[in-house]
Amino acid sequence: MKIGIYGGSFDPVHNGHIAMIRSALKSGFIDCVIVIPSVRNSFKLYTNKLPPPYRLYMMKETVEGLDLKNCYVCDVEYDIDGVSYTAVVLAKLTSDEYISEFLISNGIKRKKAEEHHEFFWIMGSDTLGTFETWYKPGEILNYVSLLAAVRPGDDTDVEKTKASIKKNLGGKVEIFRLDGVDCSSSGITTSGDYSQVPEPAVEYIKRHALYTENTKLEGVSEEARKQFFEVAVWMYHYLGGKRLLHTLNVGYLSAHLADVFGCDKDKALIAGALHDCAKELPIEQQLELAKKYSGDLFTEKKLLHSPAGATFAKEQLGIEDKEILDAICYHTTGKGDMSTLEKIVYLADKIEPSRNYTDLTPIREAAEKDLEGAMRMTAAAVRDKFVSQGRDIHPMTLLMMKDLKM
Ligand SMILES: [Fe+2]
Ligand SMILES: [Fe+2]
Repeated sequence: MKIGIYGGSFDPVHNGHIAMIRSALKSGFIDCVIVIPSVRNSFKLYTNKLPPPYRLYMMKETVEGLDLKNCYVCDVEYDIDGVSYTAVVLAKLTSDEYISEFLISNGIKRKKAEEHHEFFWIMGSDTLGTFETWYKPGEILNYVSLLAAVRPGDDTDVEKTKASIKKNLGGKVEIFRLDGVDCSSSGITTSGDYSQVPEPAVEYIKRHALYTENTKLEGVSEEARKQFFEVAVWMYHYLGGKRLLHTLNVGYLSAHLADVFGCDKDKALIAGALHDCAKELPIEQQLELAKKYSGDLFTEKKLLHSPAGATFAKEQLGIEDKEILDAICYHTTGKGDMSTLEKIVYLADKIEPSRNYTDLTPIREAAEKDLEGAMRMTAAAVRDKFVSQGRDIHPMTLLMMKDLKM
């Protein structure tokens, strides 16, 4: 097959990106496009507005929602340590083993997936001009030809660039015509005008309340911001999409609530983001990790992931901060004498933007001014559910409710 590869931040994805994919597919040079939302782009290391998994799943939902045929979203960069230089990504992606498995997992027949493939790196004509300054451009050209989009009326001196790349690096450059709008992701998030964002992405952005004041992370240290991005990539290996986005949403909301109720924003961001990190581990592993943190305090299956998460974050990420670890450990049950951080993570877990198990508007409104009031509303709902199901309320929750004067 002739395979086009299209990398980018997609922060957010917009109609210009979609036009690029559609025009490349129409060009006749390629049979399909593999889209790679970046993880650690050398040009935008940690400066993207959203951590990588949000951008990956936004692209997936968009490709699916628009029903883009012969277009596959790829997470290859999650398996690469350090900066995801194009040369490094291509070495992995174009290896026989990786590419055939990837194509098969996207519904391509084995025979076709295992044949010899030719690869093309899709890019705009503006980026083509800077190609020779990239990291190991010669090596990149060992894996791919370049497939550059030229907009009608574009005055970039493409032929000159093509000749230079051929002379200096010996690479092949093909040109295709780009039909479509000219827009930029940063222009969209700065202006707040989402008219050039495809509908499935708009829906996704709304569902998770992205590109808002909360996701700007103002007042969060640079170090915590980087840690948040890294934690998101790390958790990608342990959680499915829905739960991963939920736990990251709790990070954002906890950081916001920390602002409102005067507690450490950095700690709230990290504790919130990590609160469900152990939830999809095998139950035996959860049990073992839970015991290390809290002995036999939690035995019910549904509760194990909380203390297990504290141990997991500690052992795997080296997080030693007791306040963070406790906030993770008690996020499901609550406990007596809770710290503000623990209260925030407890509450944020129940009301983050994508939660829709009931009308949460009154609790969300209360959460902006009265932390304990909002907790009381949440705890009352939990109590009612347990009573109706004839289940016992955990002793730690009873202690929390006593403190909340319930
Ligand atoms: Fe949880
Ligand atoms: Fe949760």
